[in-house]
Amino acid sequence: MITASEAGLAGVVAGKTGISTVGKKGFGLTYRGYSIEDLSEHASFEEVAWLLLHGELPMYEQLVAFSEELQSRRSLPDRLKQVLEILPRTAHPMDVLRTGCSMLGCIEPEESPEQQYEIAMRLLASFPSMLCYWHHYHQSGDRIDVETDDDNLAGHFLHLLHGKPAAEHLCRALDVALILYAEHEYNASTFAARITASTMSDLYSAITTGIGTLRGPLHGGANEASMELVEAFVNADAAEQGVMNQLAAKKKIMGFGHRVYKKFDPRSDVIKRWSQTLCEETALTPLYEISERIEAVMRREKGLFPNLDFYAATVFHCLGIPTSMFTPLFVFSRTAGWSAHVFEQRGNNRLIRPAAEYNGPGPRVFVPINERA
Ligand code: ACO
Repeated sequence: MITASEAGLAGVVAGKTGISTVGKKGFGLTYRGYSIEDLSEHASFEEVAWLLLHGELPMYEQLVAFSEELQSRRSLPDRLKQVLEILPRTAHPMDVLRTGCSMLGCIEPEESPEQQYEIAMRLLASFPSMLCYWHHYHQSGDRIDVETDDDNLAGHFLHLLHGKPAAEHLCRALDVALILYAEHEYNASTFAARITASTMSDLYSAITTGIGTLRGPLHGGANEASMELVEAFVNADAAEQGVMNQLAAKKKIMGFGHRVYKKFDPRSDVIKRWSQTLCEETALTPLYEISERIEAVMRREKGLFPNLDFYAATVFHCLGIPTSMFTPLFVFSRTAGWSAHVFEQRGNNRLIRPAAEYNGPGPRVFVPINERA
């Protein structure tokens, strides 16, 4: 009999992985054995993506070659651009990426698993292009050039979005967020991507599955919902009152709590420091004060802590990124983790097909349609 706490597979070990540890005693959050604190302090997103895809940190020449490979894969085929143009202006950017991924899979299909690494690079490189091409076309009618000289994803995206290169420390802020978002063991979207891969489907289908699963506010969509929450208040006192009212109405506060972490999310401290720095620099300190007050209220009232999404929201906002693009940023980054998991699943595959406890009606006699009362 499945208990309430087991619903949603809470605490169920559903497979093995050598890619990351989430909250594991003696490890904390690690990618391939390296702590998230070290990676976010010393590495770049490209270095982390390589680590996830290959299992080891790259040598200097390997990292340079990898960055150049990614740079060379940023262009979009004309037929994909046409699809982006006919998508509605009002589409959610997550739907744009999901569709863009599918369309690229039609134009450049994966014909053999040997192409998986090339395709993972292609998606990592071209997701920012897809999003920005769609965005600018529908904002101003501009068919932008989606290739820039920026040698990393963070700088490339900010350049495409704002139409000019971004300052180095702003690129680094986004780079750190991408590192923190890159991988998280058997979270919902990764597990969904692994299920798709386990049927021997193609990499595009697995990534599309991941995007669809990430979109919801209980998962990646929480960063957008967090921004909407923080922005709704004029100051910290109003935030305290508003959150108290929402809790009294039994509403969930997005950006708080976690299925696995019970005391804190190690990614939150890292991104919170960036949130403070950028809010102060851009004269958006009230947003940081509001966020801190919400954090204090949630700790006091519910014993809950902010997850990565909460302070990532103000970081993205200070970078001038529209709120509806926050979850797509998660996609840019998590494509590295999803791909690594698909490679791992394929390396030792068995169809993922669990069983269900039946709670429907007992056996019944079929009644023909014209005899039903
Ligand atoms: N706000 C208010 N109450 C909460 C919150 C929250 N954010 N999170 C959990 N709770 C409460 C629940 O209401 C529930 O209370 P009850 O036992 O009185 O009914 C209890 O804590 C347990 O909550 P569950 O939702 O059952 O816990 P679960 O492990 O399933 O949830 C989850 C984890 C989905 C992340 C949850 O904390 C949540 O919904 N948070 C908000 C959404 C969010 O921030 N998602 C991002 C996840 S991290 C990421 O994707 C990077």
